Amino acid sequence: MKALVTGGAGFIGSNVVKLLLNEGHEVMVLDDLSSGYRQNLDSLPQAAFVEGDIRDHELVSEIMQKVEVVFHLAASVGNRRSIDNPIQDSQVNVIGTLNVLDAARNAGVRKIVYSSSAGIFGELKHLPIAEDHPTEPDTPYGVSKLAAEKLCLVYAHLYPLEAISLRYFNVYGVNQRYDAYGNVMPIFARWLLNGEPLVIYDDGEQTRDFVNVQDVAWANLLAAKAEGVSGAFNIASGTAITINHLAELMRSLGKNDVGVEYQPPRKGDVRDSLADISLAEGTLGFRPRVDIESGLTEYVAWAAEEMV
Ligand SMILES: NC(=O)c1ccc[n+]([C@@H]2O[C@H](COP(=O)([O-])OP(=O)(O)OC[C@H]3O[C@@H](n4cnc5c(N)ncnc54)[C@H](O)[C@@H]3O)[C@@H](O)[C@H]2O)c1
Repeated sequence: MKALVTGGAGFIGSNVVKLLLNEGHEVMVLDDLSSGYRQNLDSLPQAAFVEGDIRDHELVSEIMQKVEVVFHLAASVGNRRSIDNPIQDSQVNVIGTLNVLDAARNAGVRKIVYSSSAGIFGELKHLPIAEDHPTEPDTPYGVSKLAAEKLCLVYAHLYPLEAISLRYFNVYGVNQRYDAYGNVMPIFARWLLNGEPLVIYDDGEQTRDFVNVQDVAWANLLAAKAEGVSGAFNIASGTAITINHLAELMRSLGKNDVGVEYQPPRKGDVRDSLADISLAEGTLGFRPRVDIESGLTEYVAWAAEEMV
């Protein structure tokens, strides 16, 4: 297939690009490098790179003429970033997605695979979270990801364009770099490498469903191949671990003997998270293959090379 990966220089996008190339597909990347890194694509020169913004109507329309499937990952990412920059968040995540969708339908693209987020659910009512769990996002990011997901599904309803939204839970793995707004994994990795204590907000007994980025990339490919299927699917490991357990695993993998420090809970953080992934399993054939211990071992080794 001829694929466009928006946000392909980012953490998850670059792993999607890698998998697509390995599977023999033709790949074009559109990324403005606002939070992505050109170096994530250094080892993938077969991917054609275009530096630009998903909100650039002319540019996106032109690129779209050449593709069959769009993997749409470009976004302003994260709850904290959106609390600091709510307007930027919706401009990129909502208007940017609309621009991608409209260009895709005008160009006759077959399918869009949209990267949504478990952030659309907000505080959880019950666990595990299936796709029909209430969506009451409690950050601007959760709202913008939900709006974009709904726009994808509306386009699939109105036009001959299939759309699958993949709702990722906590993704981790290779190419996940430290960022002040980032997830816990690279932040812990950085402290570990610097020999600093791991800071845990709240009592550390809050849980998260971590899914390895290789499994997420594979879910993207399965979604593209699922002919005639549109809809929203949870993508996660289907298992939860506490932040205390995560800290323990990471400390056991690091060379430095670091401690743990506790701080009060932060606003906007959910207490527990665990996905029901049976819909993705039954419809797309998705089954996570990377367990947390081996995924973390690979990640900490990568971080020791790339993040120092
Ligand atoms: N990392 C996670 O745990 C997680 C969880 C749920 C959902 N997601 C979603 O997955 C997708 C990828 O996230 P990520 O973690 O790889 O983050 P990332 O920041 O590494 O990737 C986002 C990419 O989009 C690019 N980008 C941002 N704004 C752009 C614009 N206006 N035009 C073109 N490119 C732009 C950035 O430069 C970056 O390369 C996002 O849509 C995010 O919402 C991520």
